[in-house]
Amino acid sequence: DVAELAPPSQSGLLPAAAPATRLLTVLFGSETGNSKALAKTLAGKAEAKGIQTRLVDMADYKTRGLKDEQDLLVITSTHAEGDAPQTAVGFFEFLESRKAPKLPQLRYAVLALGDSTYEHYCEAGKRVDRRLEELGAQRIADRVDCDVDYEDAADGWIATVVANLAPATQTRGSVAASAAVVQSTAPATTFDKKHPFQAAVVDNIVLTGRGSSKETRHIEVSLADSGLTYQPGDALGVVPRNDPALVAAVLEKLSLSADAPVTVKQGTTSLGEALGGTFEITALTPRFLDHWADITGAAELQALRASDQKEARATFQHNHHILDVVSRFPASGIDATQFVAGLRPLQPRLYSIASSLAAAPDEAHLTVSTVRYTLHDQARAGVASGYLAARTEADATIPVYIQSNDHFHLPDDDAPILMIGAGTGVAPYRAFMQEREARGASGRSWLFFGERNFRSDFLYQVEWQDLVKSGVLSRLDLAFSRDAAPKTYVQDRLRRQGRDVYAWLEEGAYLYVCGDSAQMAPDVHAALTDIVAEHGGLDRDEAGAYLSALQRDRRYRLDVY
Ligand code: 2AM
Repeated sequence: DVAELAPPSQSGLLPAAAPATRLLTVLFGSETGNSKALAKTLAGKAEAKGIQTRLVDMADYKTRGLKDEQDLLVITSTHAEGDAPQTAVGFFEFLESRKAPKLPQLRYAVLALGDSTYEHYCEAGKRVDRRLEELGAQRIADRVDCDVDYEDAADGWIATVVANLAPATQTRGSVAASAAVVQSTAPATTFDKKHPFQAAVVDNIVLTGRGSSKETRHIEVSLADSGLTYQPGDALGVVPRNDPALVAAVLEKLSLSADAPVTVKQGTTSLGEALGGTFEITALTPRFLDHWADITGAAELQALRASDQKEARATFQHNHHILDVVSRFPASGIDATQFVAGLRPLQPRLYSIASSLAAAPDEAHLTVSTVRYTLHDQARAGVASGYLAARTEADATIPVYIQSNDHFHLPDDDAPILMIGAGTGVAPYRAFMQEREARGASGRSWLFFGERNFRSDFLYQVEWQDLVKSGVLSRLDLAFSRDAAPKTYVQDRLRRQGRDVYAWLEEGAYLYVCGDSAQMAPDVHAALTDIVAEHGGLDRDEAGAYLSALQRDRRYRLDVY
C-alpha cells in the first residue's frame, strides 16, 4: 500500500534547504548504457520532486553503506545467461552472499532490462528484486521487466516510483539546492539512437585474406560536420535496416504488399518501410510466438505454451526465425497492422570503435565480422553485420551515434596496459595504440591477440608490426588457434607469459579484455587466476580476491559481447 509507506508529508512551504528527509539512492548496473541513461532520467525526475537523490553506478557502490539506505531504486540490465552486468558483479556477489545485512528499514523497487529472445530474460533484475525481499526490504512498486524496446515500460515504472516516493506537498523547493547531486558525464550531443547521424561510408574492405573461414571487415565512416566526438574505448551505435530480400520474402509469405498502409507508434507508414527499418524480423521472440499462435490457432504453436514445454519452446525459438514461422504456419487474410503488432522495434547495435580521433580526425573505424550461416537450407546473415557488409556503394551512408563506454577508456599516459583480444575484440586496442602513439604516451603496452589462422586472419598485421618497431607497442603475443593442433588461445599465451604478466600487474598495469563473453572472457579469467596464484604464491580464493580487487579499482576492465 503506497499511501501507508509514503513518508509523513511536510506541511507548508519548504525552506530553501529541505529538512532532513529520506535520501533516495538510484543504483544502476549498466552493460551498454541503457540502464545508466534511465537511472539519470529517474534521478532527475526525483530531484525535480524535491527528493534528495544520489545516483550511483553499482561498479562504484560501497556495499557497507547498504544497511543505511532508506529508499533504493535499482535499474539493472542482464548479461549473457542471466548474469549481472560485468561492472556490477561485485555488487551482486555481496548482495547474494551471507554478508548482506537484513534490510527491514529499506524501501525499494527494481526495473529490469533484458532481451526476451534469451532464456534468462531480465534475470539480473529478478535476482535483485528477490534478494531485497528476502533481506526484509519493502517493495514500493512491482518490478517491471523490459524488453529491448524498453522506453515505454521504463517511463511508466519511473513515473510510478517517483509518485510513490514523493512527499505529497514537496514540490520544487529543493531542486536548485540539490541539483548538483545528479551529475552528468555523458558528452552533450545532438545525435543519439533515436536521431542518428547519417555517416558516409568512406571505406569498407574485407580484412581477412583468401581462404579465411571468416569475413571480417574494416569499415570507416566519416563523422565530419556532425560534431560527434569519442574517446578510444567508446562504441559506435549503428542503426541497421533489414535485408530487402528478407523483407520481400516475408511479404510474399504473408501475401501482403509493400505499399500496404500500417499504423505504428510513430504514425502511418508502408508495410515495406516498417519491415525494412522499424521492426526486428529475424529473431523469434516469445511475444511473436504467442501472437502467431493466437492468429493462426496452429496446434503445434499452441502446444508450446504449456508450462512443461519450456525446453521445447526454447529449442523452437532457437531454430526458427520469424520468416520460418510465417512460412510453416501460414495465416490467411491477416492485415499489415495485425502482423506488426507482434513485432518489436529494430534495435541499434554497438561496435567498439577501432580508431582514435587523434590519428583519424572526423572518422570512426569499425572491425566487423559478418555473421553468416545456414538455417533451413537458406543463407542468413546477422542483421547489423549483414547490413554493414552490404554498404559498399560509393555513396553509402549509415545512421550512427556515439555510445560512450567510460569503463573501457585508457588510463594515464604513463600507466602500463595489458590488452587481451580475440577476433574483432582487437578493435579498441587499435584505437588505444593510435591514441598513445599520437600522444607520445610513455606507458608500456602489451597485446595478446587470437584468431584462427595466421595467413588469413591476422587482423591489422602490418599496423601491429609497425607499432612494435616504433616501440608504441612493447610486446605482442599471438595465438592462432587453427594453425596447429592442439588449439592455442590467448589464455594459453597468457599462461606461458605468466611470470611477466603477474609482474606487470604488480607494477600497476591496467588489464583489458575484449571479445566473446560466453567462452573467452571466463577462460581468460581462469587463466589469470592461475597466474596470480602461481606467481603471487596465493591459493585460488586469494587469487580470485586479487582479481576482484583489480576489478574494483578499475584496473581490470571488460568489453565483451
Ligand atoms: P576457434 O574458432 O579456432 O575455436 C577469434 O574468434 C579467436 O578466438 C579464434 O581463434 C577462436 O578459436 C578463439 N576462441 C574460441 N573460443 C575461445 C575461448 N574460449 N577462449 C579464447 N579464444 C577462443
